[in-house]
Amino acid sequence: MKPVRHFLEVDDLAAEELAAVLELSADPSPPAALAGKGMALLFEKPSARTRHSMEMAVVQLGGHPVSVAGTEVGIDERESAEDIARTLACYHAAIGARVFDHLLVQRMAAVSPVPVVNMLSDQAHPLQALGDLLTVAQEFGRVSGRRIAFVGDANNVSRSLAIGAGLASAEFVLCGPDGYHFDRADVDRISAAGGTAEIVDDPAQAVAGAHVVYTDVWVSMGEEDQAPEKMAAFADYAVDEALLGRAAPDAIFLHCLPARPGLEVAEEVLYGRQSRIWQQAENRMHAARGLLAFLLGAP
Ligand code: CP
Ligand code: NVA
Repeated sequence: MKPVRHFLEVDDLAAEELAAVLELSADPSPPAALAGKGMALLFEKPSARTRHSMEMAVVQLGGHPVSVAGTEVGIDERESAEDIARTLACYHAAIGARVFDHLLVQRMAAVSPVPVVNMLSDQAHPLQALGDLLTVAQEFGRVSGRRIAFVGDANNVSRSLAIGAGLASAEFVLCGPDGYHFDRADVDRISAAGGTAEIVDDPAQAVAGAHVVYTDVWVSMGEEDQAPEKMAAFADYAVDEALLGRAAPDAIFLHCLPARPGLEVAEEVLYGRQSRIWQQAENRMHAARGLLAFLLGAP
């Protein structure tokens, strides 16, 4: 029997598997890996892109998505996360979960007989990284050797992207104020993926020569109590036209969205000539389809 493959962070894929997933993602009609099957999509937090891209990816693979709010099933209140995973696996070929605490997806994956896909946790957003890398590949013809400058928080989005960039042989630099950098464990994990984990606190230095300038919100879902100090700490880290102008001439701007125009990114950049945010958002669906085809397809 084929072992169950979970996708909790990008490095659950080997480098050549990530390349295969990106290639599958570019195929608009892969084999119907989910024909007659379902996928449960569990959300503890709000979502627009992730829910819709996952639901449509499941449909495109011939399957039926069932989205459910965390409160509806009562994770660890009505029933343990483990029993919810075991139950959903009775009906579904895969389970996706968006959670506050990364431990929850790990607990589900530990007992689930079907693949568990992390649809965002406090630690990781690997589906986002797949869509981002697909966008870079489309724009530049390859990911390897491209320089990605992430100006913002060491959060779920930047961590997964740094790991994915390492696996895809891209350069990655994180730029933010002291106290909001990757920690030792992050750096070790990025290095293990083949990445460099360059960390700087000067935005101009970070974006010099960058092919991709990326940012995300300063205050992630679940961190609302840290908003005052984070807003103050990141005040000098907004991506504006002047900063983007210091990147490579053909640089693109990416943001996982939702954005806060006027805070982490200037409106002129978010909706400007170099922005690829809508292509990036669409790619979430193609990447989700590619990943599910890889996880659930023929051996
Ligand atoms: N980028 C992203 O995950 O968007 P949603 O939170 O809307 O799903
Ligand atoms: N870092 C953000 C990403 C949202 C898609 C958050 O976790 O809220």
